[in-house]
Amino acid sequence: MASILGPRSPLLRLGGGRGIIRTTTLTTTTLRTTPPPPPPQPQQQQPRRYKSGPYGYTQAKTLVFSRFGEPADVLSLHTHSISPSLPAGAVLVRTLAAPVNPADVNTIQGTYGAKPPLSQLLGTAEPAAVPGNEACFEVVAVGPPSPRPAAGTGGDGDGNTIKRGDWVIPATTGFGTFRTHALVEDAERTLFRVGGEKGNAGLSAAQVATVSVNPSSAYRMLKDYVDLVDLSVKSFASGGDGATGGAWFLQNGANSGVGRAAIQFGRLWGLRSINVVRERATPEETEALKEELRELGATVVVTEKEFLDRSFTARLKEEWTRGGKEPVMLGLNCVGGKSASAMVKALSPKGCMVTYGGMSRQSFPFPTGPQIFKRLRFEGFWLSEWGKENPLEKRNTVNEILDLMREGKFKEAPFQEVEWNWDTEEKVLKDAVQGTLAGFRSGKGLFVFGET
Ligand SMILES: NC(=O)c1ccc[n+]([C@@H]2O[C@H](COP(=O)([O-])OP(=O)(O)OC[C@H]3O[C@@H](n4cnc5c(N)ncnc54)[C@H](OP(=O)(O)O)[C@@H]3O)[C@@H](O)[C@H]2O)c1
Repeated sequence: MASILGPRSPLLRLGGGRGIIRTTTLTTTTLRTTPPPPPPQPQQQQPRRYKSGPYGYTQAKTLVFSRFGEPADVLSLHTHSISPSLPAGAVLVRTLAAPVNPADVNTIQGTYGAKPPLSQLLGTAEPAAVPGNEACFEVVAVGPPSPRPAAGTGGDGDGNTIKRGDWVIPATTGFGTFRTHALVEDAERTLFRVGGEKGNAGLSAAQVATVSVNPSSAYRMLKDYVDLVDLSVKSFASGGDGATGGAWFLQNGANSGVGRAAIQFGRLWGLRSINVVRERATPEETEALKEELRELGATVVVTEKEFLDRSFTARLKEEWTRGGKEPVMLGLNCVGGKSASAMVKALSPKGCMVTYGGMSRQSFPFPTGPQIFKRLRFEGFWLSEWGKENPLEKRNTVNEILDLMREGKFKEAPFQEVEWNWDTEEKVLKDAVQGTLAGFRSGKGLFVFGET
């Protein structure tokens, strides 16, 4: 998690941008007097200040939680200050955009696979954590160079150091992104400079903020479990005139951020997809959603009701896969429960089901028959662990997707923007997080930072 820990971190009384006196600790070390201003740092650039206190301190706000529970109950908005005296190798960043993903809510609820460490580094009354895994940050100040050389030690992997004005994203999950600013230590390792030499040209903050979790997960799941491109080539080679398209994959939760990304990669890589979505309130709305996904590149879109119907296996065979001659070798399971069980039935022998989400909050049995007689493979995907094990590949994946976005070949998922300004009320921010797991949404929550 990013910290505001500085070399000298006293308890301060600061005048806020709106004339309010705020008191805030900068570390767990508490000096009880107002200190003299820190000595100027010659190599350090001056931060671009938004809400600044005396001596160039940046006023920052962050959502924090000290115990697990529903976001509306346990989140609070905390104000603190960041010293202009940045440690060596550290940078000060300002958040431009940050999405609220289901995993962020699960983390706050305490049901996620990883529990964040709680600390008082931000001067909260109780040990607290900052939620949020993804964001697009702008670097507003850079500390003195780290004694460790940047090239080959991590950073953006190309030996370039992070500069003021760069757009950066967290290199790993668990950063804590629901905040206006952060002081990031060991920045070359902790952050990933967007777009290598191309920087952020042609990209929006929303695209950059949302590239590293959902699109990256879809990309890896389509590539790393079944070689669908190879399967497509072989099918064309052996299918003669009968082969009409690339290899099939099947997914539920197809209108999720991950699902929409998978549809688009499928289209770009010449694959065909069968996509399951939940029915909307009216047939017209359902058809509009189906059409939206077809426009993204979905080959077939069915409702969950159609998918769970007994007739689905016959339809799959007769309507789409040439009497079952074209196998469905990969299933991406976002939902669990009955939908996952139907996926088991639909997959072809030796197929692979990759579970990455459990949106229905229902488990499903690992049925014995299909494991033995269809020799199905059941895998789980977790981006956080994959990213830790493959840091360079993660950067390459993100850069490749950013290039596709730049070229207009990949569209980000729809968003419900929530503006976060200095005076945005705590409730607005908490409600935005709380609403994340409600179904049938028109878009994912995205904090867009204005005047902070
Ligand atoms: N394992 C990993 O590394 C990894 C990486 C990224 C994401 N994920 C997981 O993938 C899932 C989707 O994430 P996202 O960010 O792409 O989601 P998202 O864009 O927020 O979309 C949520 C999706 O879940 C569906 N959904 C919501 N409630 C549901 C319910 N009760 N039953 C069935 N479907 C329901 C929604 O369908 P409706 O529109 O019909 O409500 C929508 O398709 C989450 O579980 C997330 O944690 C996992």
